[in-house]
Amino acid sequence: MATGLLGIENFPRPDIEQLLERARNFQPKESGSYPRLTSCAGKMIVNLFFENSTRTRSSFEIAARRLGAEMLSITASGSSVTKGESLVDTLNTLVAMRPQAIVMRHGASGAPHFLARHLTTPIVNAGDGTHEHPTQALLDARTILDNKGALEGLRVAIIGDIAHSRVARSNIFLLSKFGVDIVLCGPPSLVPRELARIAPGVRLEHDIRKAILGADVIMMLRVQLERIHEPTMDASEYFQFYGLRLEHLSLAKPDVIVLHPGPINRGREISSEVADSQRSMILNQVENGIAVRMAVLERVLLQ
Ligand code: NCD
Repeated sequence: MATGLLGIENFPRPDIEQLLERARNFQPKESGSYPRLTSCAGKMIVNLFFENSTRTRSSFEIAARRLGAEMLSITASGSSVTKGESLVDTLNTLVAMRPQAIVMRHGASGAPHFLARHLTTPIVNAGDGTHEHPTQALLDARTILDNKGALEGLRVAIIGDIAHSRVARSNIFLLSKFGVDIVLCGPPSLVPRELARIAPGVRLEHDIRKAILGADVIMMLRVQLERIHEPTMDASEYFQFYGLRLEHLSLAKPDVIVLHPGPINRGREISSEVADSQRSMILNQVENGIAVRMAVLERVLLQ
């Protein structure tokens, strides 16, 4: 099996540390200029998205370009998938064109893992169903490190639709490897009890105020309506109980930072005042998305 990046759960802590450290080299300089490299010149990456994306897809593209690699982006809606081609046939077709790596987002949990067992081309998971989103967890960790210096000893509150969130799962796996105190919070239907057993150091809390108490980092999540098929709270009801508002921030540490993977829904999970506040690192996360994805692609292409 080729070495790509399928998830954080089985990705060792030293490898995570190495990627996070390498990503620092790819952050913008003080002058605002970005490193442009040629180390991956001549390499071709296929960026295959079966689900919608703004940030992840474009940042993988920019990351590839900044490494000097070429990237071909394909979305399911514009491909032969809509003509009934199976996932395996689509992938075999692309592999026959000899790319050096495939970045892939798919709605089915485990899809990239299944393909990785059959293909020799390394696969980078850009989000599989409700399972994992490893590069998101890495860019979140990079953003936390930029602000806090270390992960050990921090308290991180993850709030929202945890049940359907691949972002939450990858973050829980990553943060628990560094001994972070993790509090998960949301309505009971979106934060089932089993989640307490997902990794060491995880506790559940259904009251947002208690979850935020003493937090160093508050990570807000979107309600994944596209994955919820039963009636659920409307936006204003959800916001009343689980939306992050300015008054909540005083319960956290004074230097708390607020993260959100995007896309954000103002007035549902987060107020505009918080999203646009000094405490919000949402756009820093986007910026770090490029640096971290450069580190991941470089590792995969130059192994
Ligand atoms: C997330 C995703 O697709 O899992 N977005 C992202 O990659 N930045 C979260 C979401 O869609 O809510």
